[in-house]
Amino acid sequence: MNVAVLGYGTVGSGVVEVLTENQDSIDVKAGKEIRVKYILDLRDFPGDPHEDKIVHDFKVILEDDSVKVVVETMGGVHPAYEFVKDCLQRGKSVCTSNKELVAVHGAELLSIAREKRVNFLFEASVGGGIPIIRPLNQSLTADKILEISGILNGTTNYILTKMTEEGLDFDTVLKDAQEKGYAERNPEADVEGYDACRKIAILTSLAHGKQVDYEDIYTEGITKITDIDIKYAKAMGTSIKIFGMSRVTEDGVIAMVAPFMIDKAHPLFPVNDVFNGIFVKGNMLGDAMFYGRGAGKLPTASAVVADVVDAAKHEGTTIMTIWSQEKLKLAPIDGAKFRRFVRVRDGFNIAGKFGNVTVLEPQAEGEKAFITRPVSEADYKKTAEETDGILSMIRLDFKGQ
Ligand code: HSE
Repeated sequence: MNVAVLGYGTVGSGVVEVLTENQDSIDVKAGKEIRVKYILDLRDFPGDPHEDKIVHDFKVILEDDSVKVVVETMGGVHPAYEFVKDCLQRGKSVCTSNKELVAVHGAELLSIAREKRVNFLFEASVGGGIPIIRPLNQSLTADKILEISGILNGTTNYILTKMTEEGLDFDTVLKDAQEKGYAERNPEADVEGYDACRKIAILTSLAHGKQVDYEDIYTEGITKITDIDIKYAKAMGTSIKIFGMSRVTEDGVIAMVAPFMIDKAHPLFPVNDVFNGIFVKGNMLGDAMFYGRGAGKLPTASAVVADVVDAAKHEGTTIMTIWSQEKLKLAPIDGAKFRRFVRVRDGFNIAGKFGNVTVLEPQAEGEKAFITRPVSEADYKKTAEETDGILSMIRLDFKGQ
């Protein structure tokens, strides 16, 4: 079975490496010989062992009907969307790692794949090498999914872990991470939570079978987390993580991306460094955890190649994925209640504004810190707008109490 790879960057070259290195076992598992016929890239790769497969014209791949599966690892929405759509319409299955593409066009591309009796698979788009898309589609279908909380971004988890371990501030750790190549030169998509937002949009769409538009998801990054917040977290034996979260509430499904303070009883507590972890709660299953490498060349390529194997095993049939183009109307987060860690300047009327709170041992001069009772987003927002002197606020997600 001939495969073409669109984009010979980090993940694309990883896909070719995995297919070459594990060729024998992959062929056995797929039940057929899987071979890379073309690699599409704008660049040439003189001296590369797969140099002879490089093509610059997408049409060569599209018009070759011996290519049954196309791997899309270019990233970005354009021209990935046009290329993927053309491939599906031509009767080729597509396996992608592209979360931007899946978040925006996943439902439509799945429906084209169904029409053409091919597959559109995207295991690597969330959680890199961690199986999470297939479990949601296949293993957890007996359940109603009540909650998904995920550490879905390796860069920010690395930054928060280093801030915690070394007591350094955000800017210092970010600079160091950039120098080591762990964070992008333009880190906005990671540190502002946009990357995690695409990923929780995909997971929430799959969990509820309808389209969740990422633009509707409240998103807060980690740029405001300070070394003082981290000091308090450590003193309490808790830790601060950024979650992509969606939950079924009385008002409907809410979704958000934000930093959370979690206790040791939380399954995501030990997920550190560049690792990702995804906590799923089903109404029958209870709690489940998925853990592993959420980024990187070979872990991500491993998930893409597993999709290629699945596409090979299902030639002529479409693996059922319930994700309609009908929009899932998210409930506003205003009603969502969280206990909160709050730091305020000395003199702030704590009891007047937040009622009974648990005051914490001070970790910095000139301020006080406390944990509130559950306060809704709307009430907190109102208080924060009306008053001066709030230094920081982090929502709590404690599983132990
Ligand atoms: N920038 C992403 C991360 C890459 O840090 O997790 C994987 O999607």
